[in-house]
Amino acid sequence: RGAPPTIIVIFGASGDLTARKLIPALYNLGLDNLLPGDFHLIGYGRKPIPDEEFQADAEKDVNEFSRRPLNPDIWPQLKANIHYHAGGYDDPKAFAELREKCLDIEKKAGRDLQFVFYISTPPSVFKPILENLGSSGLAAHGKGTPLASKMIIEKPFGRDLATAQELNQIIANQFDEHQVFRIDHYLGKETVQDLMVLRFANTIFEPIWNRRYVDCVQITVAEDLGVGTRGGYYDTSGATRDMLQNHTMQLLALTAMEAPVSLGAEDIRDEKVKLLKSIQPLRLDPKDGDAVRAQYAEGLIGGEKVPGYLQEKDIPATSSTETFAALRMSINNWRWQGVPFYLRSGKRLARRVSEIAIQFKQPPGGLFTDPSRFDMAANTLVIQIQPDEGTTFLLNSKIPGLETRTQPVKMHFRYATTFGSNTPEAYERLILDAMVGDSTLFIRGDETETSWKLYTPLLEYWEECGRKGLDSYACGSWGPLSADRLLWESNHEWRRAG
Ligand code: BG6
Repeated sequence: RGAPPTIIVIFGASGDLTARKLIPALYNLGLDNLLPGDFHLIGYGRKPIPDEEFQADAEKDVNEFSRRPLNPDIWPQLKANIHYHAGGYDDPKAFAELREKCLDIEKKAGRDLQFVFYISTPPSVFKPILENLGSSGLAAHGKGTPLASKMIIEKPFGRDLATAQELNQIIANQFDEHQVFRIDHYLGKETVQDLMVLRFANTIFEPIWNRRYVDCVQITVAEDLGVGTRGGYYDTSGATRDMLQNHTMQLLALTAMEAPVSLGAEDIRDEKVKLLKSIQPLRLDPKDGDAVRAQYAEGLIGGEKVPGYLQEKDIPATSSTETFAALRMSINNWRWQGVPFYLRSGKRLARRVSEIAIQFKQPPGGLFTDPSRFDMAANTLVIQIQPDEGTTFLLNSKIPGLETRTQPVKMHFRYATTFGSNTPEAYERLILDAMVGDSTLFIRGDETETSWKLYTPLLEYWEECGRKGLDSYACGSWGPLSADRLLWESNHEWRRAG
């Protein structure tokens, strides 16, 4: 899969994402010989930085964050093609100069180059960047040819339905949908891509992947980290916008959608949108609703005392931002009606683990009902997204011995054991796909709007409530009791994830 000759411009070049993920991902693509012969990177940021300093920073990023060490045979050539351009995001002159710089590189290369714009800035400047890409003529570069410009945009993609629609409109003024790559880095994870393979490249799951056999589905995206230095951003976002509306919904859509007609981007995304549209509106009733939210309070992580959310840097003392949310979703279609999908995500939980658990119904009949002899668990297929990537199947087995006793046991498949552990990072796959023009692992405009449509009433309702009804949980726990109650109401319990 060769990418055409490319200049990639990263807006937000001095940001954390560029250092931790984007530069190391580009380096690893170079190491695997996946970058085109003519490849240039231009970092764009407000601060004036000489090219040499930006190159030295990039080298530091590779040394610090790359999954593989810096290779002295590959690096010098890559480094020589790293440039920096200082300018404001709302400064037309700086964009005109950027265009000159790009055209100059193209001229020196002696061939047409594809321009890829990676917007990795805070959302407050998405709009001026997009408009300036349009008015400078950069967005239109190569239009109508296979080298038409492309635009990759980071999250957050809006903060509700109206702002997502507005952003889609601003994008559509400058780019056609096939030029647009909305990032959800969860789609770049190996285990998330494997979901489709697991479901549709194996015959045994499809017949039981429905309401006749599945009792409930639990999706957990838990982190043990707190908000760290990102308090300013996080407090305007919260767990629901930061994780549930995007990453967790992608996991849900891939788990529950119908088989696509082909592996083509549009066929897969059509199925995801169809599934998202069949999710019922969330009930907001404070007593009998489908959602709970909470904030972490002081507690212990790894035996060490850590502060509560309100004591974190840049968090207002009266903040009502949730750091944990749990939801119950109902999908109104032939496959899933009556099967609850439980979603939860939070910071400062007991451990970092993301997983999807398909819990099957109990067998009929009364053969193994005596609890003194038969320890039985529901058959559960657990797709462990991270860490310790793999799939586990939980079944019941006879304990060897002269008596008939049972115990739940696990069948494991581990990526690290089978494939080794040095798999590509999500951003490597995503940047390569965008350069090649494959949008399968990116969010389509209508997809993000469908998801926001579901979440917006809930977010507005919580905003109205302020701190009323906001629960709390101790750092290092699995969340508030209200999240357990949400499942008890339907005779379920959260699995112990991980
Ligand atoms: C990001 C969120 O999208 O995903 C962060 O903004 C979160 O708050 C991160 O920590 C989690 O990503 P991963 O790949 O570590 O699960």
